[in-house]
Parts: sequence; C-alpha cells; structure tokens
Amino acid sequence: MKDVFAFDRYGFLGFMGPILVTGATGTVGGSVVRQLREAGEEVRALTRDPSSARLPAGVEVVGGSFLEPSSLVAALRGVTRVHLVSMEGDGPAIVEVLARAGVERLTHLGHNDPSKPDDDPLESWHRVFRRAIESSGMAWTHLFPGEFMGNTREWVPSIRAEGVVRAPFGDWTSAMVHEDDVAAIVVRALLEDGHEGRTYQPTGPEPVRRRDAVRLIGEAIGRPVRFEELTPEQAREHWRGTYPPEVVEWFLEMGRDPDGQAWVSPDVADVLGRPGLTFERWAHDHAADFS
Ligand SMILES: NC(=O)c1ccc[n+]([C@@H]2O[C@H](COP(=O)([O-])OP(=O)(O)OC[C@H]3O[C@@H](n4cnc5c(N)ncnc54)[C@H](OP(=O)(O)O)[C@@H]3O)[C@@H](O)[C@H]2O)c1
Repeated sequence: MKDVFAFDRYGFLGFMGPILVTGATGTVGGSVVRQLREAGEEVRALTRDPSSARLPAGVEVVGGSFLEPSSLVAALRGVTRVHLVSMEGDGPAIVEVLARAGVERLTHLGHNDPSKPDDDPLESWHRVFRRAIESSGMAWTHLFPGEFMGNTREWVPSIRAEGVVRAPFGDWTSAMVHEDDVAAIVVRALLEDGHEGRTYQPTGPEPVRRRDAVRLIGEAIGRPVRFEELTPEQAREHWRGTYPPEVVEWFLEMGRDPDGQAWVSPDVADVLGRPGLTFERWAHDHAADFS
C-alpha cells in the first residue's frame, strides 16, 4: 500500500489524503481518475449526479455542483490537492471555497484565448476564473489544451448509422490532443513538485486535417468512412440544437482560418518525456465507440 504520509511543500510530514477530481465523469477528468488510481492514489470524484456516475472501483464518489459553491465543502473534507475543471458558476466563489477548505495544490483545466477582447463574454468568464486562481495563495498549474481528439466522438452516431461524417471545413487543420496526454500532465502536476505557477498548453504531436481524421477512424474500424463537407450555412442547420448558437458561430469563425489550430506545443514532450499520442492511436483506442 502506498504511504499516506509524505513531506509536503513546506517540508513537514503531513497526511496527504484523497485527491479531489472535479469533472471526473468528463473526457480529461475520467482519464485523470484512472491514471491517479494506477499511480496508487486515493481518489474522490465530484459529480452532480452520484447515482448515474460510472467511475472505477475504489473511487469515492461525492455530489456537488459549481453552481452552488457551498455544495463543494463536504467533498473537500481532508483534501489538499484538487483537479479543477472550469465549466460554469462563479469562479472566484468556487476558488474561495477551495482555499478556505485548505487546498494547497490545484491543477486547473480551462481555456485561454489571448487574442479575444476582454468584453468577449466566454473569454472574460475564463479570465476572471483564472485570475482568482492565481491570487488564491494555492500552488496552481493551468492547463489550456488544444482541441481534444475526443471531440470527434460527435461523429459516432453518423459513422455508426451511415458510415459518414458531415462537417464544414474538410481542410481545417488542428493539432488535436489525446485526452490521456492532458490527463498525464495533470497527474504529474498533482504528484510532483516543479509545476507550480506553470501554464501548459498541451496539443497533439502533429496537425491533422478534418478529412484525414475521418479517414483514420475508418482505418481503425476497418471500414471506410465518407466525409461530406457542409457549407457554413448547412453546418449552422446541422448543429442547431446540439450546440448553443454562440458556440456554433465560434466554431465557424475558427474554421475561416484553416491553420488556426495547427500549432504544435512542446509541452507534452517536455513534461512527459515522450512525444504526444497521435490521432491514429486515439482512433484505435476508441474504435469500439465508432463500430
Ligand atoms: N473540448 C475541448 O476541445 C477543449 C479544449 C480546450 C479546453 N477545454 C476545456 O476543458 C474543460 C472540459 O471541457 P469538456 O468539454 O471536455 O467537458 P468534459 O470534461 O467532458 O465534461 C464536463 C465535466 O464537468 C462536470 N460539470 C459540468 N457542470 C458542472 C457543475 N455545475 N458542477 C460540477 N461539475 C460540473 C461534468 O460532471 P457531471 O456531469 O458528472 O456533474 C463533467 O464531468 C473546459 O474547461 C473546456 O473549456 C476543452
């Protein structure tokens, strides 16, 4: 069994306690939970609905919502390390609850687009959250990844039903990142010293065109998948009801610059000491979802 006592960052022998993982049912959070368990850590998982959350055996599941920061207090009992996903709610109030509960180390998964003006509603919400974390006194590590490979799971229904993907901008290029790589950096930052005050922007190891991602999923499942390119107007219709209108417009705005997400960050290789996982690998890891 792993030692529960360890020297903390002040050099005292302390009780490490469980690590609270928020967003534990989500794309990156699920992988953080799994990797922490593999590392022998005690994990407490936050979800709004403990009765329907499916989490690995041995994980303590607790209820709570960012929309009600006081509901996080019980989940934080005995916790000094937290993985925090910014999803919704009053960021500074959430951060205050964490700091008051005695959290010392925090990994923060969020979003940052410095090119956006301060009055952009989504961007300013993330900025306020981020600044609250930085001035909280907790040892923080930000993660602002590129697009997740897991977003392509949006294509599961049409690939399963018709062997087709309908989307705009087939030549759009993105250095999508495997969620396991983002999670692996989170785990390092929670368990090792040296990541405090750092901001990581993990991406995948290479840019991938949309239409090539579709082809690679076809290869992984052993049957061809067709790509049908939509015009922006058709895409608006296609995504209506799936995403809020402002998110659809954001997707379409991004699509106007085919290389806008193509930048490859050195962070996965620098932190993990190996190249990032490829989309080909992701497609094989998730082939069963598309079959
Ligand atoms: N998707 C991308 O390509 C991408 C790229 C860069 C950055 N990001 C950032 O990554 C983060 C995660 O995004 P995602 O789209 O991948 O989502 P996700 O982590 O797959 O799912 C959202 C998670 O947040 C939890 N959650 C939602 N509302 C909550 C609330 N009110 N209280 C407590 N927990 C709540 C959900 O838990 P329950 O449902 O179990 O309560 C779920 O586990 C976001 O901050 C996003 O900006 C995403």
